[in-house]
Amino acid sequence: MTKVNAPEFVRHPKLIAWVEEIAALTQPDRIEWCDGSEEENQRLLDLMVANGTMRKLNQEKHPNSYLANSSPSDVARVEDRTFICSEKQEDAGATNHWTDPAEMRQTLNGLFEGCMRGRTMYVVPFSMGPLGSHIAHIGIELSDSPYVVVNMRMMARMGKEVYDVLGTDGEFVPCVHSVGMPLEAGQKDVTWPCSDTKYIVHYPETREIWSYGSGYGGNALLGKKCLALRIASVMGRDQGWLAEHMLILGLTSPQGEKHYVAAAFPSACGKTNFAMLIPPAGFEGWKVETVGDDIAWIKPGEDGRLYAINPEAGFFGVAPGTNTKTNPNCMATLNQNVIYTNVAVTEDGEVWWEGLSKEAPAGLTDWTGKPWTPESGNKAAHPNARFTVSASQCPSIDADWENPAGVPISAFIFGGRRADTVPLVVEAFDWVDGVYKAATMGSETTAAAVGQQGIVRRDPFAMLPFAGYNMGDYFQHWLNLGEKLEQSGAKLPKIFNVNWFRRDENGDFIWPGFGQNMRVLEWIIDRCEGRAEATETPIGYVPSYQQLNWTGSDFTAEQFEQVTSQSPEQWAKELESHAELFEKIGNHVPQALQARREQLVQAINVEKVA
Ligand code: GTP
Ligand code: SPV
Ligand code: MN
Repeated sequence: MTKVNAPEFVRHPKLIAWVEEIAALTQPDRIEWCDGSEEENQRLLDLMVANGTMRKLNQEKHPNSYLANSSPSDVARVEDRTFICSEKQEDAGATNHWTDPAEMRQTLNGLFEGCMRGRTMYVVPFSMGPLGSHIAHIGIELSDSPYVVVNMRMMARMGKEVYDVLGTDGEFVPCVHSVGMPLEAGQKDVTWPCSDTKYIVHYPETREIWSYGSGYGGNALLGKKCLALRIASVMGRDQGWLAEHMLILGLTSPQGEKHYVAAAFPSACGKTNFAMLIPPAGFEGWKVETVGDDIAWIKPGEDGRLYAINPEAGFFGVAPGTNTKTNPNCMATLNQNVIYTNVAVTEDGEVWWEGLSKEAPAGLTDWTGKPWTPESGNKAAHPNARFTVSASQCPSIDADWENPAGVPISAFIFGGRRADTVPLVVEAFDWVDGVYKAATMGSETTAAAVGQQGIVRRDPFAMLPFAGYNMGDYFQHWLNLGEKLEQSGAKLPKIFNVNWFRRDENGDFIWPGFGQNMRVLEWIIDRCEGRAEATETPIGYVPSYQQLNWTGSDFTAEQFEQVTSQSPEQWAKELESHAELFEKIGNHVPQALQARREQLVQAINVEKVA
């Protein structure tokens, strides 16, 4: 049996016993207790360069940066293979895959038995949220992937300090991860091992995570979607707080007035970009600062306001489309110490992806390792190619991004990727209407998950793949929280819908997006402060062309009409798909949301308008 040999900084008998138990099951050749040190990190990077998993990039252009190319079968989250194994199926709900936990444990025991043979099992201690703060949660990930270790080190607070916080009996979320490719004696390893069989499994009641067969992103970096969203959303349901797929940004006006907003956009729909927005010409003196780009934990404060923290420590961001025009802050963040995954690379080790520059450099190797030219017919970088980087390197990082008290939220913004129907911005009439808008949000599917792309699906709260319990109960949890805050006399955050992605008849985006989204953000804040006018429409309050600030812009009133028009026919269809979603979720859908839909059906009466 593999010797566990816990180092002296681990003083937690239950944890050591659990590592022993998993080692006995998975039978690794070695166990390495990670301490998060620079020495350890470099050693693992060197190891991966030596075995071909990683390539060291051009050290002048990309100091201390590396590139990993994954297996072509392991490039994104696998929603079809993601399970919420609650005791009762009803608690997972119709939007989650469910298997009886006893049955799933049996399946996984079979798969995990001996699955780490020939490999090292890394013990990765991490904290989601600032180390030792009362809002943080600790996880221990056991993984046979060194790629996971070096990524977790940037994405979470990873290292031996975590054991000081845990002490001898602290609570942690046990996370077991294997790529599912045991190495028999004499067998040669592949550069990106992963099994064809994949399981991403959550046991919400016992707060456990088991992941098998993938080394990529949200499937494998278990602190992120698995712990900080799926398991944390269940903790939030039980304890009265929220775990959301949201960016958090701070906006300061030239007069020094500061507001924070949290925004939920589905995967690959603009959170990282919005969080790092640089105000355009015409907005001199305005400042946007970044608290987080993907996940927010939100709790009511003693003053009745909602406070948000970013539980992560890094960004695992979409590379394609990122450039010095669309997101200069992000490009500056990527100056050094980056792990790229599935981007293209030049002969002398410079990275490239679609949208980085108009013209691709010569001599590119694509993400699958083949020579590439613009005539090749495939993308040079995978559409879900990503960078991993520490948030502390971001020039726009907010001074309070690690404040354990969080930052007070003035507005919630929900936005999908919609070619039509949904206007540029609309303000909800009230909390219930805002919850309705978030609950029924639709968005085109993207490369962030395996499966068909560009298909509009309902993605409630941008949490469809991440809610760890029944979606109807999740809606009710939001309604309850609003009611509770309202009763306490607090000013609730206003709720808005946005859509940066309307297209014209040629399929081109009409709204310029990125920095220009500042114009919408300013109106949102002005609405929160009661300073801006709006027009009432059947679906909510909207600005007229004159009500947005167009200084420095040549966006015309006609174009504005194109991104804001409301078609009764399209909305009638939209409401039908809301009904389909509610039908799917079933009797857990709160009555207040059903009632709101019926009101909308009346308000958007096609005959009446036509
Ligand atoms: P996840 O990390 O998957 O959760 O994604 P995200 O929501 O952080 O998305 P991200 O900001 O990385 O953007 C995804 C893609 O959308 C990138 O290719 C961006 O260039 C593009 N994008 C972001 N904002 C805008 C915008 O305002 N307009 C347009 N047209 N594209 C945008
Ligand atoms: C997403 O898909 O929403 C991501 C990337 O942020 S992953 O970490 O793979 O989930
Ligand atoms: Mn995300």
